[in-house]
Amino acid sequence: MKWLIFILAAATGVGSGIHSGESLREAAQKSGMLIGTAVRPCALSEVAYASTLAREYNMVEPEDALKWEVVHPERDSLDFSQADQIVDFAKRHGMKIRGHTLVWRRQNPKWLTEGRYTSGQLAEILEKHIKTVVGHYRGRVFAWDVVNEAFDELHPGTLRSTIWHDQPGIGAPGNGIGSSDGRQASSEPADTELAARGSGQPYSYIERCFRWAHEADPEALLFYNEAEAEVINPKSDAIYAMVRDFRERGVPIDGVGLQMHIVNLYADVASISDNIERFTALGMLVHITEMDVALPVDAEGNASAKDLQLQADVYRQIASACLSHPGCTAIQTWGFTDKYSWIGSHSKKTHGAALPFDRNYRAKPAYEALRKALAPARESLVVGR
Ligand code: XIL
Repeated sequence: MKWLIFILAAATGVGSGIHSGESLREAAQKSGMLIGTAVRPCALSEVAYASTLAREYNMVEPEDALKWEVVHPERDSLDFSQADQIVDFAKRHGMKIRGHTLVWRRQNPKWLTEGRYTSGQLAEILEKHIKTVVGHYRGRVFAWDVVNEAFDELHPGTLRSTIWHDQPGIGAPGNGIGSSDGRQASSEPADTELAARGSGQPYSYIERCFRWAHEADPEALLFYNEAEAEVINPKSDAIYAMVRDFRERGVPIDGVGLQMHIVNLYADVASISDNIERFTALGMLVHITEMDVALPVDAEGNASAKDLQLQADVYRQIASACLSHPGCTAIQTWGFTDKYSWIGSHSKKTHGAALPFDRNYRAKPAYEALRKALAPARESLVVGR
């Protein structure tokens, strides 16, 4: 009997994490899509993690390994060891690599946040960081989240208060050019151009970051990445205005990343689709960069069967919305197994089960939904944009 169960399980893939039929990666490849996931280097040594990752995905992104606190732990030294593990893995398995993220308000080291730098010093530190990190991965990381979550949802249309913006910041009005201590942060053309425009836009610091990243790797695709701007709302309106201005003035931006951390099982997919439409109509690529669909879970971390079905439907609808716009070229989840997901700690364990594979690497309904949504071919596209 045991043998019979074993043979049946092996044949169907049940419980083994192996699936009959096409993988996500194969389905995505046929549709000209990138299917990606955030990755933790410490898990790469786990056989089930590594084999599922290589089989199912054609794109990876370090979840934390490229954030300042990891990659730039001391002012004068960088540590690429964690991110390099992911980059090496991706190279071995023929996967694209997205870089996340060069500028954010979180996960910054103390030497930076408590350093009491002038705006001029901060601009120099930031320029050097961007150019060194992007330069290190030049030709290997094909797309960067240059700036992450700069807009404020509490005050629609305004930028968040962050070290980069106003503490003392390089972006606060009057600080967009040069430095508060009278030194010019850089003599590159970008600064000359900014100077010609006077104090510039409130988001002039974001513009400078894109220009610095472009100088370090002119081939890399540069993205602005944001949370809670998936639907048409005041935040995505503000991003739209900024991106349109960047396009008009030739600021090197290629795309917008919509994070897609979903907690509402009845997401407004029509509005998400309209939002993708307006950004792609501007000539922007859209990547779904951090999708997960958090479910209420019990003390063991299990969600209800009904919610798992509803979750699958959300994955299917969002993937279909992306696929229906030729400029939406990547769907990435924030991890792939519920074993390694930020939702547990983020929600104090009230939510979880947010990803396409369960904690034992078994495919969930969300996996099947994604695979089906990816299946229709979009042959006009070349994988990699
Ligand atoms: C999260 C990581 O998943 C966690 O491991 C870390 O402790 C905190 O950051 N938006 C982002 C991501 O852009 O970088 C965040 O990642 C999740 C929210």
